[in-house]
Formats: sequence, C-alpha cells, structure tokens
Amino acid sequence: MEKFNIAIDGPAGAGKSTIARLVAGALGFVYVDTGAMYRAVTWKILQENLPAEATADMIALTSRTEIRLVPGENGQTVYVDGLDVTGMIRSAEVTGNVSRIASVAEIRSILTAKQKEMAAGKGVVMDGRDIGSHVLPDAEVKIFLTASVRIRAERRFKEICDTQTEMTLEQLELDIARRDRMDEQREASPLVKAADAVLMDTTDMTIPEVVERILELCQSRVGGGK
Ligand code: CDP
Ligand code: CDP
Repeated sequence: MEKFNIAIDGPAGAGKSTIARLVAGALGFVYVDTGAMYRAVTWKILQENLPAEATADMIALTSRTEIRLVPGENGQTVYVDGLDVTGMIRSAEVTGNVSRIASVAEIRSILTAKQKEMAAGKGVVMDGRDIGSHVLPDAEVKIFLTASVRIRAERRFKEICDTQTEMTLEQLELDIARRDRMDEQREASPLVKAADAVLMDTTDMTIPEVVERILELCQSRVGGGK
C-alpha cells in the first residue's frame, strides 16, 4: 500500500498530539509535532535572553539552531543542538512566549522548510496550526480538530493539576483563548481550517472515537496505510 501524509491542525488542547501519535502508531507512520519545533526555538531564544524587539537576532539564531525530533517508546524526544529539552519546552515560560515567536514570518519559513523535508518521503502524521493550509497543502488526509475552549482547558487542567497547582482552570482557559487568538490573527500562516480539511469537533468524543473516525477517513480516502 502506498504511503500518504496526514495533516492535523487545530487550537490548543484539541487533542492533536494525542490523536496524531495514536493514528501514526496504528498506521506505522512517523509522528511529527511541529508545535514542539516552535517551542524548541522559543526555549533557545529565551535561553539567549534576546529582547522582544531583537527580531533579526531571533531569526539568525533559529537558522543556526539544530532541532531534532526522535520518536521513541514514551513519545517523542526533542533535542536542541544535541541537548534533550523535551521537558523544558513545556514550561509555562515557553508556553507564554511561543505564539509571539511563532508570529515571525522568517522563523516560520525556516521551520516550514524543515517540516516539508520531514514529510517528503510520505508516511507522516504532522500536527500543528498551518499544516493542511500551508506546510503540506497536498496532504492526502487533512483534519481540523477542535473542541469548546472550556473542555480544552479542562483537559489541560487535568494534565497539569499535579504539577502547577497555582494555576486555576479559569486562568488556563484565558491563557488558551489568548494563544488561540494570537495564532488565528497573525499574518504569517495563521491557524485556519484548510478548505479541504474535515472538521471534527471532539467536545463530546473520546480519544478512541476520534482515532477510529480518522482511520475510517484514511480508509475511504486512500485505502488505509501500511
Ligand atoms: O500543544 P499545544 O496546543 O499547547 O501547542 P503546541 O502544538 O505545542 O504549539 C505551541 C505554539 O506553537 C502554538 O500556540 C503556536 O503559536 C505555535 N505553532 C505554530 O504557530 N504553528 C504550528 N504549526 C505549530 C505550533
Ligand atoms: O496537542 P493538543 O494541544 O491539541 O492536545 P493534546 O495535548 O493532545 O490533548 C490535551 C489533553 O486532552 C490530553 O490530556 C488528552 O489526553 C486529552 N484529550 C481528551 O481527553 N479527549 C480527546 N478527545 C482528546 C484529547
């Protein structure tokens, strides 16, 4: 069976990475988390203490930074210039700054070129904000995953309530809504549903139900995988 590419986009906490990883596992495809790449660049820029207005320095730093995503049994490990930053890129500081840095068009071009390269051999499930609309416009299967902002905040809250108890559900909801707005309103490849993407509202859907729907869609569009 021919390999194909699957693009999964949507707002924060919609379930993209969870679903993309499971779909990739079921098809024997490679999962690529493009959000981790924007987070990795943001982490590097914060490490270097670059001021918010130093856009040219941020672009130069991005082009000389090596980002590697290595799939493994416990998910994906993210390396920045050889250093494992998998945990560090999920910090509140990175989350609070990533959409600002992801709005710089030249930074997006550098990462988009890497993402296109990663998908060139097909057999990739790539998740992000602009995959179906911009990075892989020819992906054979495109999904736009969404859910109400409340349920997305609740899902995220469940994940972090053991570690960051000082953050309330209301704060988290505001934070997610703010990030969605920035992602939707930026000029360079904003968060948008591609015209040919299938919209899935997962507010009332379980993870296995979403995975099943996507696998069925793959079956009907391209005859499966593997
Ligand atoms: O998992 P979560 O929804 O928190 O976000 P993520 O997928 O890790 O992405 C973090 C941020 O990176 C997003 O809020 C966007 O600002 C940016 N991003 C982007 O601009 N384009 C992508 N293809 C992926 C992420
Ligand atoms: O990648 P994205 O930010 O879109 O979301 P995620 O990190 O994959 O999912 C956020 C949380 O929602 C995870 O804890 C998932 O297990 C959970 N989730 C869920 O409860 N029901 C779904 N249908 C999808 C995700």
